[in-house]
Amino acid sequence: MFKEKGFLHLKNYFDPNKILNEANKTILICKKKKWKYVKVYHNIFINKFVNIFSINFPFNNKLNPNLYNEFTKINLKNPILENTYWKNFQITQIELQHNQKFNYQSTWHRDSKFSNLENIVAILYLRDANGFKLVPKNLEDAVIRKYNFSKEKNYKNGYVNLSNNYFHQFDVKAGDLVIFDAGLLHQGSCKGMRTQFFVRCIENDKDNILNKDLEPNALLNDTDILSKNYNWNFNQNPYSLKKKLISIINLIIYYFPVLKLFRFILDIKKKKIHFHYSIFQK
Ligand SMILES: [Fe+2]
Repeated sequence: MFKEKGFLHLKNYFDPNKILNEANKTILICKKKKWKYVKVYHNIFINKFVNIFSINFPFNNKLNPNLYNEFTKINLKNPILENTYWKNFQITQIELQHNQKFNYQSTWHRDSKFSNLENIVAILYLRDANGFKLVPKNLEDAVIRKYNFSKEKNYKNGYVNLSNNYFHQFDVKAGDLVIFDAGLLHQGSCKGMRTQFFVRCIENDKDNILNKDLEPNALLNDTDILSKNYNWNFNQNPYSLKKKLISIINLIIYYFPVLKLFRFILDIKKKKIHFHYSIFQK
């Protein structure tokens, strides 16, 4: 399955209850402490909070140490090593992805330039989710032939309506594990609440290890370097007054997406996705 399609969906792979409970505690602590290592893609107003998309360095001792204990009980090693030529692997990035309330939909993109098993992503679902789309490896050439721009890693035309027969849409339950080649074209999507771990892995010649910054005792002192490595400015303050004001505008646009509606009407052949980050998201 993985060899042909470049992904694997393992149903009922782990018990989600305890780890979800610990993840919820982490999220609460993160809000309380105004943890700076968060990503907020579209800050829609939530009273006394910001619309967090993901918590970075989620195992850090400054948050909830029990989360790491629960995470280590899940066997990631077997499915990854059994489906790659790797001897060992290194986890280079972990995000606790969490959407509290509002819809989210990314562009079509690739997390890695090539789909040659250089980079594997594992998603551990702590809640049921439906909407994540991925172009399987066996359809890659056909998609590139039809949608020429899609061979790039990122592109401006990311909100394109790909025809249904070119992608697989995941319908997952809490406790499922999905692994996929990070070089495959995919689109994140969720409606309302979601909680899941995003884990990025690369080959490693020695042991199976976690990057130093991800370890519970990491100091995380140099925010500039971490920002550079994670391609996200962790120095910006999502709790600032300016960001809060923008979030109120986003809240209005979420329920009344006037510009999106206008673009939708003009797009006669309905080639594009228009209602992402809005109540009308599909
Ligand atoms: Fe991605």
